[in-house]
Parts: sequence; C-alpha cells; structure tokens
Amino acid sequence: MEANMPKRKEPGRSLRIKVISMGNAEVGKSCIIKRYCEKRFVSKYLATIGIDYGVTKVHIRDREIKVNIFDMAGHPFFYEVRNEFYKDTQGVILVYDVGQKDSFDALDAWLAEMKQELGPHGNMENIIFVVCANKIDCTKHRCVDESEGRLWAESKGFLYFETSAQTGEGINEMFQTFYISIVDLCENGGKRPTTNSSASFTKEQADAIRRIRNSKDSWDMLGVKPGASRDEVNKAYRKLAVLLHPDKCVAPGSEDAFKAVVNARTALLKNIK
Ligand code: GTP
Ligand code: MG
Repeated sequence: MEANMPKRKEPGRSLRIKVISMGNAEVGKSCIIKRYCEKRFVSKYLATIGIDYGVTKVHIRDREIKVNIFDMAGHPFFYEVRNEFYKDTQGVILVYDVGQKDSFDALDAWLAEMKQELGPHGNMENIIFVVCANKIDCTKHRCVDESEGRLWAESKGFLYFETSAQTGEGINEMFQTFYISIVDLCENGGKRPTTNSSASFTKEQADAIRRIRNSKDSWDMLGVKPGASRDEVNKAYRKLAVLLHPDKCVAPGSEDAFKAVVNARTALLKNIK
C-alpha cells in the first residue's frame, strides 16, 4: 500500500485525509484555516503553540471527505513538536506573506524540513501542495509579485493561489481546488495524476526568468560579459528571445522577462560601436 494512502471508511464514498499547514511564523496559516472553517478573521496575532488540530467535513463530487487539519507553528522554537506530524499527509498548505520576502525565500527550507522528517523512504511526489501568497489585501507592503510566486509554485508542480484571510479573497477557491486535487490523487491510487504533476514550461525557461529578474544590469541580464561585442549581444539576445517569446513560453513572468531582454539589448547596442 502507498505510504500516503488515506484511510477509507466506506470504500468509494467517504474518505479521510490529512492536511498540514507550513510556512514561517505570522504569515497567516491559522487565519486562512479559520477563515475557511469558521468564516471569521482575527486581527490580533495569537501564535500557534506547537500544533493546532481540527476536523472538518467537505463534499467533493459524491464523496464525503473528513479532513484532519494539523496547523503547524511556524516559529523555529517548535521544530521538535511539529517534526513528527509530517508523515502520512496527503495535502500541504504552504503559506507565505506577500509583504515579507523572507517568508517567500523560506519556502524551500520548509520543503527541506519536511523531506528530512519523512526520511529516505518518504515520497513528496505524491502529496498535493498548494502555495498561498497571503495578505494580498496589504497592497502597499507587497514585495513578492504574483508572477514570482506563481513561477516558484508551478515549476514544482504545486497549485498557487493569491489569498487574503482578512477579506476572504481566494480562500474558498483555494480549498476547493486543493480538496479536488487530493480526491483525484486518492482516486488515482495515491499517486499524483500525471497531468497535474508537470509544469507547462521548462526548467530552463523558469531559470532564465528568475535570472533576468535578479540581474544587476543589462549585460548581466543577457548573460554576456561587460564590454561584449554587438555579435555576442545579438547572439545572447536571440537565444533568450526564442526561449521566452510570449508565443512560445507560458511561464509566469515570461512576458515581462521578454520585454526586459528586448530593452536590455536596445540599451547595449546604442553604446556599442
Ligand atoms: P504561527 O502560528 O506563529 O506560525 O503564525 P500563523 O502563520 O498561523 O499566523 P496567524 O494566522 O496567526 O496570523 C498572523 C498575523 O497576521 C495575525 O495578526 C493575523 O491577523 C494577520 N493576518 C493573517 N492573514 C492575514 C491577511 O490575509 N491579511 C492581513 N492584513 N493580515 C493577516
Ligand atoms: Mg498559527
């Protein structure tokens, strides 16, 4: 039997699944769950101590799904408490705060923690992950934009939603899609259906967009040495243009990256004799 297979009460009808939340402290994990389960929002920060556990029932297609939610504390202090809750999970809600770059950068470390706790025989491939870019109501403080978050999530085969636990935006859609994906996984024998597991763009495209986004100047953006010749600039430009052309590339952020590459080439050629 697959390690991540949920327990069934009545074969074919009711399902019991385990879902956990992950992400840095204060990003809004508990508030997202509360918004969905209790339809309310608490603005005062009440840090989760270790783990909060709750059960909820949802109906997906003709099935009753009993969801056991383990809401984890994000603070490093609680590592010893949460580390034993990673196993036998079908779904992970991975949350960051769009106004806290650190919380976005920490997502890889959260995946690493889970992988480590699952051990060498643990299988992260057959778990549904949904990434919540939370606190989108705080538009003034936003520093991680949608395409950056979406690119990270989709290049890993994860779902991505923009959410606000405060206003409720995106919350129901996120849970609905998340649960449907988990039911699909269960009906597929505990394996992620292949259609959901691969991104519709390549790693090379995702890496190029990230590199362009983080480049320090036009030379760096085209991946050529400062002082490169017209030919070298044009060659590098053509390679990136083919890779990222909006007609060919559907990766989040590809349009902006393509425009940036066009502008970088124009700016460099102006100054090269
Ligand atoms: P830990 O339990 O410590 O890991 O934190 P957490 O991720 O569970 O955060 P929690 O849900 O407790 O929320 C942290 C703070 O952010 C609280 O003050 C919430 O009111 C606030 N908050 C959560 N979600 C949102 C949101 O979507 N918008 C805004 N503006 N504030 C939010
Ligand atoms: Mg919490």
